[in-house]
Amino acid sequence: MTASVKPRAACLIGWPAAHSRSPLIHHYWLRKLGIEGGYNIEAVPPEGFAGFVQRLAAHGFVGANVTLPHKERALALTLPDERARAVGAANTLWYEASTLRSTNTDIEGFINNLDASANGWDAVEDALVLGAGGASRAVVFGLLERGIKRIHVANRTAERAHTLAQQFGDTVHPIAWAAIGEALPQAGLLVNTTSLGMHGQPALELAIGALPSQAIVADLVYVPLETPLLAAARAQGLRTADGLGMLLHQAVRGFELWFGHRPEVTPELRALVEADLGHP
Ligand code: ATR
Repeated sequence: MTASVKPRAACLIGWPAAHSRSPLIHHYWLRKLGIEGGYNIEAVPPEGFAGFVQRLAAHGFVGANVTLPHKERALALTLPDERARAVGAANTLWYEASTLRSTNTDIEGFINNLDASANGWDAVEDALVLGAGGASRAVVFGLLERGIKRIHVANRTAERAHTLAQQFGDTVHPIAWAAIGEALPQAGLLVNTTSLGMHGQPALELAIGALPSQAIVADLVYVPLETPLLAAARAQGLRTADGLGMLLHQAVRGFELWFGHRPEVTPELRALVEADLGHP
């Protein structure tokens, strides 16, 4: 008799365990690739997080995604790679031998989505990034890695933009929130990493008619799928990259680390998640 081998499983750790699209994405790939595996949601309160992570394998998991409010704690409880350290937060955990490692896949999620949505985007010289939180750090890291010459960062709270610029060096220039309008005519790439434009949040009021005629506009917000910013950019004939694309691309690496196959972001997967978001 052969011993039964338990299927590999990963999970999403959050609190509260909000409705997440990650199970839909990973179950789709497991099905497509014919892999017997699982992906669960684990609601873990802050006081239970350290204990849960330290016993992740004992709970039956080969790895995990981590979401609010645990992403910073996850960094301290694992051996983070350079990406997780630069962003200051980890969203993907896996075992390397018996060491629990962590990374931040928002960087490649953002960049790979741009590659897929706006081929040749990295020919731009000036990028303008709105926001200075964790998502902005992921975007800036990716833009620097791809050799963008000048990255301007505008944030409502100016101090955070300065801190971010100091962390990343001379290529990154903090600008005042009020100076966004002056920066638009040079911005070959505009990226919104703030929550403005998200369902229930104020709109991002920008005169994007001032952008160069070949500019590319990316928005990390994906509820709604087409933000007012993306709608305005498309109406102007500009190329765009949306937040759902980034969400799908950031999930690739975790799946590869846990299940040993690199999955693809297909139109079919996108349609499945769009339908779940209420946008058939
Ligand atoms: P994340 O990890 O998603 O980046 P975050 O660190 O909370 O989340 O950052 C949210 C970003 O949205 C910040 O840049 C924030 O600006 P502040 O640093 O000034 O708070 C920005 N943001 C949120 N609401 C905003 C608003 N009403 N106007 C302008 N920026 C806003």
